[in-house]
Amino acid sequence: MNMNRQYIFVIAFFFSLFLVTSSTYLEVKQVVPTTFTVNKVNSSKIVVGISWDGTNEADDEYVLARLKCFGDAVTVLNSPQDHVFGERNTTYELAVHKSNALVRCRTGVKDIERWLTFFYFQT
Ligand SMILES: *[C@@H]1O[C@H](CO)[C@@H](O)[C@H](O)[C@H]1NC(C)=O
Ligand SMILES: *[C@@H]1O[C@H](CO)[C@@H](O)[C@H](O)[C@H]1NC(C)=O
Repeated sequence: MNMNRQYIFVIAFFFSLFLVTSSTYLEVKQVVPTTFTVNKVNSSKIVVGISWDGTNEADDEYVLARLKCFGDAVTVLNSPQDHVFGERNTTYELAVHKSNALVRCRTGVKDIERWLTFFYFQT
């Protein structure tokens, strides 16, 4: 009885050691959005700036940057765009067709994964 218990304890001890030593943190690779700026240049032009950062991304890694705005108040003039991760920001030019309109946009950067974020502004 006593021997059995000791035996089970020893087995459990080694098994728990195995669990601890076989657990490792895997490398996470991600791109995350940081800041959004919307700059009204004049009544017919808006410039949107978008910055990103990330973890375990090489500076020369290719990323595809996109901005899409819904509705007919604005047109995005230069999306999609080719970038590398290390640039860490980009700007988009928008032609404004209506003033005082609430515009909803979706932006994202894609490497092997992608993030998509929605934001709003008033023209
Ligand atoms: C707005 O600014 C852009 C670029 O700065 C310029 O080309 C355009 O003529 C301007 N439009 C008006 C209405 O001022
Ligand atoms: C954009 O990135 C450049 C470097 O690529 C940096 O010098 C600049 O400050 C950045 N601008 C913003 C608004 O983050």
